[in-house]
This record gives sequence, structure tokens and C-alpha cells, in this order.
Amino acid sequence: MQSDPSSSPPADASTAAAWLAASRALCVSTGAGMSAESGLATFRDVDGLWSKFNPAELATPEAFLRDPCKVWEWYRLRRARLAQIEPHDGHRLLAAWEARIPDFTLVTQNVDGLHHRAGSRRVLELHGRLDTARCIACPFQIVGLDDLGEDPRCTECGQRLRPGVVWFGEALPQSQLAAAFDAAERCDVMLVIGTSGVVQPAASLVDTALQHGARLIEINPHPSAFSGSADAFLRCTALSGLREIERHRP
Ligand code: APR
Repeated sequence: MQSDPSSSPPADASTAAAWLAASRALCVSTGAGMSAESGLATFRDVDGLWSKFNPAELATPEAFLRDPCKVWEWYRLRRARLAQIEPHDGHRLLAAWEARIPDFTLVTQNVDGLHHRAGSRRVLELHGRLDTARCIACPFQIVGLDDLGEDPRCTECGQRLRPGVVWFGEALPQSQLAAAFDAAERCDVMLVIGTSGVVQPAASLVDTALQHGARLIEINPHPSAFSGSADAFLRCTALSGLREIERHRP
């Protein structure tokens, strides 16, 4: 069902709404743009995090080994920012859709936990969560972080704790990833919101859905790696696009 972008313009919000209303299996994939209207910076936009910070110094296992306190401080600053913001109505709309569609899966690359705070329950967090930490040496982990100090240690084995997020070069949690690809294979609509589509393996979920015959709807104010394949490309923000689709819901 993938349209040829050279032949017809992508469909609009009302068509997208009709596809979603008829969907028996929806997979939603969100990136940092989903949280932009809550006040969180994305990574690769002009004013994004990677324009201010060097990921090689803060978001790799090597960076953590080199300077764990510096890495913890950066994640502490991100958690402090997160404590000041709320999910927006777009997060809440996705949580409401979960109840309407029999087979609904929300896959996110975001580590901010805003989908959970908005009420989503069937969420696959591919890159972990800012409010978690785990031991570098044993299975111990903490969910719902308070302030852990600048170089926290595991209460089980005494080794260092690290932020419970996936860093560049690290494997994603296998169970979450397998469930995400299962959902991408099953879905009849893939809705991708607010991601540049440049980071693997999350980006391959869209290709997998398209290969299995799904329709692709994208919401993004700028073109992404997926826009040329979208059957409907709503060139707007996450909140505007989700509200527009909801407004056109048949
Ligand atoms: N609504 C929707 N999309 C938006 C908005 C908005 N208000 N503002 C920006 N965007 C879009 C941008 O156009 C861009 O396509 O969000 C996307 C953000 O892209 P990135 O900053 O690359 O974020 P993301 O795709 O989530 O990055 C993936 O890279 O650095 C790693 O682990 C990090 O999970 C992250 C991964």
C-alpha cells in the first residue's frame, strides 16, 4: 500500500484519521520531537542537545569509564529539567487511542517517561529511562531515581551505578526490541512522530512495517529519513498533527 511519492501528494489529516479509525493493528514510533512541545530539547535540531554537548563525552560507555561523575552530572541536569515539565495533549491523545485500537503498540526512543506519565501503558522504551539506574556489574537496578550523589554505588555489590539508558554503541534491551519489530510486522498502520530516523535499530521499524504492507503516516515539521515513503506526511508539530487527526476522527 506504499504510495509512489512521485505520483500523488501524500494524503492529509482526514485521510490519515480514516486509516487510523479502520486500523486493527497500530504501531506508533516516537522520537524527541514528540516531547518538544513539553519543553524538552531534541538532539539534532538547530538548538538540539548535540549542538551544545558532545555525545562522545557524555553518552557512550567509554565516556562513563573516563569520567563517571561528569556523565552522572549531565544526566542529573536532564532529570532536573524533566521534573519541571509535563506531558502535553499529544501524549494524552496517544494514551486515549491505546484503549480504542485492539492491537496498539507505542515504541519510543525517548527516555523522558512522558508517555507513561500521560497514561500510556503499552509502551516499549527502546533507549531506557532517565529515572532509572543500574549496576555496571550485577543485575541490580533502581527505578524512579532520587538524587543518588555524584558517583553512586550499588548497594548489592558496591560497584558503580550507571544511568539506565542505552548509550551509543550499546545493544538495546532485546525483549523491547523484539516486541517492537513484532509490532512493526503486524501493524496495518505505522504512525511515526518526531524522529529524524537516523538512529538504528529504531529507524528500521518503519522499513519493516512498510515491507509488511503497512501504511505510513508521519508527523514532523521537517522532512525526515521517512518522509519520502510516507503515505501521509503531516508537516506540522506532534501536538498539531495529533489534534488534527483527532478532529477528523470519523
Ligand atoms: N513535533 C514533531 N517533531 C518535531 C518537533 C515537534 N514539535 N520539533 C522537532 N521535531 C522533529 C525534528 O524535525 C526531527 O526530525 O523531531 C526530530 C528530532 O530528531 P532527533 O533530534 O534526531 O531525535 P530522535 O530522532 O529522537 O533521535 C534518536 O538519537 O541521540 C540519539 O538516543 C538519542 O533517542 C535519540 C536518538
